[in-house]
Amino acid sequence: MKTKNYASYLKHPVFKVASQVVTENNLQAYVIGGFVRDLLLERPSKDIDIVVVGNGLDLAKEIATRLRVSKVSVFENFGTAQFKYKDLDVEFVGARKESYRRDSRKPIVENGTLADDQNRRDFTINALALSLHQENFGEIIDPFNGLDDLEKGIIRTPLDPDITYSDDPLRMMRAVRFATQLGFKIETESLNALQRNAERLNIISGERIIDELNKIILAEEPSRGFKLLNSTKLLHQFFPEMIALQGVETIDGKSHKDNFYHTLEVLDNISENTDKLWLRWAAIMHDIAKPPTKKFDTEIGWTFHGHEELGARMTYRIFKRLKLPLDAKMKYVEKLVRLHLRPISLVKGNVTDSAVRRLLFEAGDDIEDLMTLCNADITSKNEFKVQKYKKNFELVTMKLKDVEEKDQIRNFQPPVSGEIIMKAFDLKPCNEIGVIKTTIKDAILEGTIPNEFEAALEQMLIIGKDLGLTLSNDFQMPKNNIFTTDKK
Ligand code: CTP
Repeated sequence: MKTKNYASYLKHPVFKVASQVVTENNLQAYVIGGFVRDLLLERPSKDIDIVVVGNGLDLAKEIATRLRVSKVSVFENFGTAQFKYKDLDVEFVGARKESYRRDSRKPIVENGTLADDQNRRDFTINALALSLHQENFGEIIDPFNGLDDLEKGIIRTPLDPDITYSDDPLRMMRAVRFATQLGFKIETESLNALQRNAERLNIISGERIIDELNKIILAEEPSRGFKLLNSTKLLHQFFPEMIALQGVETIDGKSHKDNFYHTLEVLDNISENTDKLWLRWAAIMHDIAKPPTKKFDTEIGWTFHGHEELGARMTYRIFKRLKLPLDAKMKYVEKLVRLHLRPISLVKGNVTDSAVRRLLFEAGDDIEDLMTLCNADITSKNEFKVQKYKKNFELVTMKLKDVEEKDQIRNFQPPVSGEIIMKAFDLKPCNEIGVIKTTIKDAILEGTIPNEFEAALEQMLIIGKDLGLTLSNDFQMPKNNIFTTDKK
């Protein structure tokens, strides 16, 4: 067992005060788990876990009093207590024998020693404990060579991995998550155990799985995690649509690309430019409907017609099953999936003002994110093609800026309101109002008329006439799109 001393790492007043109380009461208490791991890796962490051999609740209360913290949340049944001190979240727990699960709903039954507690933790790098007693303050208790694993970048379970993973199958996701976040390797025995136990993930709630998946997605190189989830068959348990993206088919010598690896490339590309979780999700989802839309045409080869529309429609079902939010975040992903080919087709073809205006109108404030997705989607083994598309992409970006400045289409509001239309033609709410509004909108997007009130009003009169409507006798041309009647 290693007995290195890390006292210099425990400078925060919480540890000084904790050490005083622990020493005065001659307790065994340790900083343990993720906080120690992150401390040694110099990663920021705000959650401190302190494990106490015996009762953690009294210790928590005494330390809180000395730190002048008035609110301590105590969970008697679970033997835990927690308080906030400045920006830190400090949690106390009695050392226990059974599996450690922060969010377990089962009350703890058996108290244990520090060694019992460390045995039941998920990974050697998460089982490191730093002593708080003055006698050996800052000494690291490392029964499983977690320090070595930390140094070598290895994810290893303290016990036989089959036991550790079956104690809490979510740990299989955690193994992949830590490997991805920290750039570590999962040790071979553990990796084999993941494959053996992958199906056990089915007993874990969707919320807990997605929590880990989102952390993988937010890592610097999320593809690492997805490749591991795929090779261990964990991904198969909850995201079969992504698995279906895999594979290359060849007919008449014509192959399509492996859409699983393409999606991962797009995800990594986009992760270089954004930390937005939902934009990264849009990258994951952008080609999700390629398998169900795939066809082979003897003339043109492989096609995936309508995959953007079907993909958008699949988003709700997938988000619902994965317990992802079904609110504006999902709508945003849906929209980006639906529109993801639009900038690409502009990049590949002739860029007309009206096509750019339509895209701006449909994307609204999400236009920059759509362009980020589109840029990430430019992947090809052919460097010449990539360079060509990238160049055109810049052209489209410039064009978007130009048109945006000129026409202000992004948050397009119809320049003529329904109220004006009703007053002008003496109408009650009816279909014609919608027809007039849409026709004006189309004329602006097509560039037939400018995006201005006067022009739109004139257009309204023309369309009204075409529809056989009669102009009201008391109608006075308004000066702006707020209708004013002359009441005198
Ligand atoms: N733990 C465990 N098994 C789990 C969850 C947690 O053994 N399924 C233990 C680990 O020792 C872990 C500690 O509880 O270090 C704290 O868990 P948690 O806060 O969920 O994770 P962290 O390791 O702190 O990592 P992060 O903060 O990045 O989630």
